[in-house]
Amino acid sequence: MMTVMSSQFQPILDRIMAEIDRTPGRGRSADYIPALAARDPRSFGMAVAELDGTVYGVGDWRQPFSAQSITKVFTLALDLAREGDELWEYVGREPSGNPFNSLVQLEYENGIPRNPFINAGALVVTDRFQTRTGDAAGELLAFLRTESGNSSLDFDEEVAASETAHGDRNAALAHFMASYGNIDNPVPVLLDQYFRQCSIEASCADLALAASFLARHGIRADGTRLLTRSQAKQINAVMLTCGTYDAAGDFAYRVGLPGKSGVGGGIIAVVPGRCTLCVWSPGLDERGNSVAGVAALDRFTTLTGLSVF
Ligand code: DON
Repeated sequence: MMTVMSSQFQPILDRIMAEIDRTPGRGRSADYIPALAARDPRSFGMAVAELDGTVYGVGDWRQPFSAQSITKVFTLALDLAREGDELWEYVGREPSGNPFNSLVQLEYENGIPRNPFINAGALVVTDRFQTRTGDAAGELLAFLRTESGNSSLDFDEEVAASETAHGDRNAALAHFMASYGNIDNPVPVLLDQYFRQCSIEASCADLALAASFLARHGIRADGTRLLTRSQAKQINAVMLTCGTYDAAGDFAYRVGLPGKSGVGGGIIAVVPGRCTLCVWSPGLDERGNSVAGVAALDRFTTLTGLSVF
């Protein structure tokens, strides 16, 4: 078994960036949210955060980007911490095998989404967290600020407004689930919370640090416990099986880590007990995952041997 010293992270990141720079083809920025369409697909950043908060990075690793669906991991953790297993009566934990914004399974599965990471499932989690807190997006932002140590993290109101203006698909998902009684809040209230949640801007360094509780088996940056060890395992497992949608099998095959992508081009990944990673490059493949991001994580686990397998 290969043993990787922390001091080797920086040269490994440098090597990955050099390889990515030489690789043509970066995919396309998400254009169904017009405010994201202008992002340069050639941007690339990557960060590794150790359990003690030491961060290594390369490229645009301090550049804030739109976290989008990566936020679904944090809302899930915050809601699970408060609500416990009751949550799983309202959202499943099976891969969907369908695109992240698909409606197709909801009707024959009685308005219960397959998992918390497709849009339908994330809407259910945000709805439940909104009922518990009265300000789901605000609670999430406060958590991300604390865990990353970056008090300047914020919503991008332009991105949130852009998504609201082009939010027919998410509105349809929310209304459809509401017709089954699986949404508690008025749909416009839920959508406002959800779009603001997705619009949070954060860098690779911020998100790698904020996700560290998943590598520390549920322990927050200040040493207090957010999740039981078992809950941290559960979230990592759902990330592995559902975090990259209908590409989750390929992601597990190539990267071998729990991971969660967003259409802003970011991906977080967790090496339990060791470190967290965040990579960002806005060019996406047809399933909504960053092309260079997946390639970089694939190289990281190959070069270091750090994987859950
Ligand atoms: O709801 C949406 O469509 C976006 N706010 C988030 C989707 C997303 O990031 C999917 N990830 N790959």
